[in-house]
Amino acid sequence: MKDYANEFKGKKALVTGGSRGIGAATAQRLLDGGATVVVSARSIHEQTPPGATFIQGEISTLAGATAVAEEALKILGGLDILVNNAGAATAKLPGIERIPDDAWIESLMINFMSAVRVTNPLLNALRESGSGAIVNISAGGLLPFHGFLAHYGASKAALNSYTKSLAKELAPAGIRVNLVTPGAIITPGGDEGRKLLTAAMGTTPEQLFSRIPLNGRAGTAEEMAEMIAFLASDRASYITGHNHFVTGGQGELA
Ligand SMILES: NC(=O)c1ccc[n+]([C@@H]2O[C@H](COP(=O)([O-])OP(=O)(O)OC[C@H]3O[C@@H](n4cnc5c(N)ncnc54)[C@H](OP(=O)(O)O)[C@@H]3O)[C@@H](O)[C@H]2O)c1
Repeated sequence: MKDYANEFKGKKALVTGGSRGIGAATAQRLLDGGATVVVSARSIHEQTPPGATFIQGEISTLAGATAVAEEALKILGGLDILVNNAGAATAKLPGIERIPDDAWIESLMINFMSAVRVTNPLLNALRESGSGAIVNISAGGLLPFHGFLAHYGASKAALNSYTKSLAKELAPAGIRVNLVTPGAIITPGGDEGRKLLTAAMGTTPEQLFSRIPLNGRAGTAEEMAEMIAFLASDRASYITGHNHFVTGGQGELA
């Protein structure tokens, strides 16, 4: 019989943006399964799991991302699971042409290049793992983003494309690479972003949630963590290169 309670025993994991929100819930879920976990962020938060080792770092720059990856490797002495979760969405004024140039660049750096830059120095360790798994956290369903967030949507689309290339390249080495796309998830960053977005749209977060097919509610970080942990686990041993939606039906059914 499989021991699901200890399914991550002996596994070493890095969760970027693991200080709060989806990343913190994921880190806790991996810890609960017996993994040794390192989380990174610019600052520690109330939600940061005490059982994880915290690395302070800004990963939207090459130097910062490389330093976080190298420190994680030093602490863990190897790597089995990488969750590229750190990301940020800042709603801008209406009108795609009014999104400032630096907002496009910032969005690409934190939502896309951070994953490339953290992953690169860790690939050898993942190859040596024998059962390496990468989970990248995307955004947006099958519908285009609202113009207020076009820069964010474009950066996550780049992440989606990169993830599929990575999955193809790493499959012969037995490393699985998947995407998880959250819908509206209650987190500090998600809540702040939606406040700005809905104010700009003349609506409210509650009105937004009421249109979600499954019970008209937002999701929780723990519901996201279940999917991420599943994809990181050996239970998903034949799954790679896919985008998995945790959206309460949003983007698929409505
Ligand atoms: N919540 C949602 O509804 C939702 C929907 C779609 C997609 N997502 C995606 O899900 C992921 C997690 O989002 P969340 O809602 O949990 O957000 P969150 O509550 O804002 O958490 C984001 C995490 O990333 C870290 N981070 C942000 N910018 C960073 C930087 N430049 N360098 C290093 N660390 C950084 C944050 O810590 P510091 O700020 O201390 O650095 C924090 O730990 C993101 O990729 C987001 O795009 C979320």
